[in-house]
Amino acid sequence: MKHIGTKTIETTRLTLRRLEHTDVQMMFNNWTSDDEVTRFLRWDAHKTIDDTKVMIEQWIDAYHDDATYYWGIYLKDGEMIGSIGVTITSEYDLKGELGYKIGSRWWNQGYSSEAAKAVIDYMFCNTDIERIDSYSSVENPASSKVMEKAGMHYEGLLKHYYKTRDGFHDCTLYGIIREEWEERE
Ligand SMILES: CC(C)(COP(=O)(O)OP(=O)(O)OC[C@H]1O[C@@H](n2cnc3c(N)ncnc32)[C@H](O)[C@@H]1OP(=O)(O)O)[C@@H](O)C(=O)NCCC(=O)NCCS
Repeated sequence: MKHIGTKTIETTRLTLRRLEHTDVQMMFNNWTSDDEVTRFLRWDAHKTIDDTKVMIEQWIDAYHDDATYYWGIYLKDGEMIGSIGVTITSEYDLKGELGYKIGSRWWNQGYSSEAAKAVIDYMFCNTDIERIDSYSSVENPASSKVMEKAGMHYEGLLKHYYKTRDGFHDCTLYGIIREEWEERE
């Protein structure tokens, strides 16, 4: 697969860029310590800033690999409000999985949809990815809405597709293939 790695993306209201060591305090304050953010994730909200420091170091290490696509989401004034990434799930099949998180103070202002649309464009423009998909718990309808608003299409229901601290979740699956992206309005 052709890769270019994580490069800065500018949208109308956001800058998406690589995580840096100096982000640690605002990342911890704004979203990694937020229990509401981790409700549907597989890790617990960070209790100390050192947990966030470790997470940043892992991503900075991963940036050495051009197949890493993971951005911090920043307002134009520099405040970090979340993160977004595409995990390459199969090099052979040219496909990846989209994931995103925003601190609860910034929910329902369209930021995740704006970031998701920009990242989908980035992947189809700069790599030879064929398919991007994403899934979310049926109990997390805001996330499905983000996928729809970013131009992805509903593809089905996945029963007990993943497990969190609350147990198994049925999930909605959304996807977009290159042809659909090229035909988008
Ligand atoms: C899911 C999440 C990323 C959404 O981020 P966001 O920035 O608030 O998303 P947006 O504002 O772009 O869009 C959210 C949409 O969902 C809608 N929405 C919010 N709560 C909803 C609910 N309970 N039922 C239905 N729709 C809902 C909003 O109205 C909005 O749609 P609209 O713009 O048409 O009004 C955010 O809630 C989050 O980070 N949650 C925790 C992490 C997570 O669950 N990530 C996804 C894992 S799959």
